[in-house]
Amino acid sequence: MSDKKARNAMWGGRFASGPAAVMEAINASISFDKKLYAQDIEGSLAHSKMLAAKGIITAEDQRKISEGLITIRSEIEDGKFEFSTRLEDIHMNIEARLAELIGPTAGRLHTARSRNDQVALDMRLWVKQELTRTAQALKQLITVFIDKAEAHAGTVMPGFTHMQAAQPVTFGHHTMAYVEMFGRDLSRVRDALARMDESPLGSAALAGTSFPIDRHMTAQALGFREPTRNSLDSVSDRDFALEFLSIASITATHLSRLAEEIVIWSTPQFGFVRLSDSWSTGSSIMPQKKNPDAAELIRGKTGRVSGHLIGMLTMLKGLPLTYSKDMQEDKESVFDAAETLDLMLAAMTGMFSDLNINEEAMRRAAGAGFSTATDLADWLVREAGLPFRDAHHVTGRAVAMAEERKIGIEELPLADLQALNNAITQDVFNVLSVENSVKSRISFGGTAPDQVLQQIAYWRARLDNA
Ligand code: ARG
Repeated sequence: MSDKKARNAMWGGRFASGPAAVMEAINASISFDKKLYAQDIEGSLAHSKMLAAKGIITAEDQRKISEGLITIRSEIEDGKFEFSTRLEDIHMNIEARLAELIGPTAGRLHTARSRNDQVALDMRLWVKQELTRTAQALKQLITVFIDKAEAHAGTVMPGFTHMQAAQPVTFGHHTMAYVEMFGRDLSRVRDALARMDESPLGSAALAGTSFPIDRHMTAQALGFREPTRNSLDSVSDRDFALEFLSIASITATHLSRLAEEIVIWSTPQFGFVRLSDSWSTGSSIMPQKKNPDAAELIRGKTGRVSGHLIGMLTMLKGLPLTYSKDMQEDKESVFDAAETLDLMLAAMTGMFSDLNINEEAMRRAAGAGFSTATDLADWLVREAGLPFRDAHHVTGRAVAMAEERKIGIEELPLADLQALNNAITQDVFNVLSVENSVKSRISFGGTAPDQVLQQIAYWRARLDNA
């Protein structure tokens, strides 16, 4: 069988022009890495200026290169640039166009550089920019949450464990729990940004270069703290992208847990919150319905974001140093995670700020399920001197009694409570109301409104420099 026949029989049918077309299709990244055009041009401008400053190219050639690159940038931004799959990626598309514009001088730009350090640079610049945007979005989200928490520092709701009402808390306290999570996400962004603040440019293909380049100069021009220290690592490291995806995944997971709560809270059965019309949709068949689609989509998109993290970890795990073409697969996941996370953060910010809180429903639910049982036990320890285990036992019997009569423990007659333990006095009823229960949780970080207001003050002060 000839080669040609074998090809056609196996897979040739779909590709009229034979294996070259398939190779081009699998090899090309231009359809997605064109997103890097601005970073690529910025890197090339800095590189060419450094080459001229070090006498590696002439000032005249540098001027032509700069002019050409700036023209190309406008062509791309005006939608006039013709991207070609044959030219594989953004780096070669720009260089080929530069040659059309300024002739053979274009070829001098790639002195002391390789696409390997070029793409490592472009991606770092892109991820740095995206993380800076993420930090801004997180700060906006946190601000909205702090405002909501302040408005509801005294709004009592049930606190849950195992999704069973456990002890009364306040909605402000619950909201501030998310501020803590998003605050850690923000600090992860800052840490990652500090770590990725090193320029790989000038590492060339993998070993560095024999030209007398100045990597400190390009690092500075491109806004990096310093150049990377090992050329092999520089062209093969994608930690910065992994860190971005991991921050995105953790943040998305936080958003998703809250989204899940909003879905639950907005059911008629809970009725804790009502979504504004702008953040819900109706049903085409059931007129009574108001669906929490934005919350569901935030929850749903989380799987996609964390999938990108796993994808990138898996792509990298078997790669020997240094560059392999597998690494071209680092881009779509990062771009998609970034776009998805931006959207999720914006949606949660808008939805949460518009959220209507049904204080009455929350309060009612807070009192259900013997949620102040722990308060009774604590009272017995504090006021009657019982060991906690004994107090727990007495309380258990009080709960059983109330359950049997289908009433709350606060509704049990004093005489019946005294039959369980004769040290109990009228004073016990002060701790059995949900308001008093919440007010009594004054330990640092607890749910007492005063504590929540302290947490709010802490975050307001801290957010300015976060
Ligand atoms: N498009 C490539 C990528 O994104 C650029 C680097 C190509 N380097 C190479 N040695 N083939 O990874």
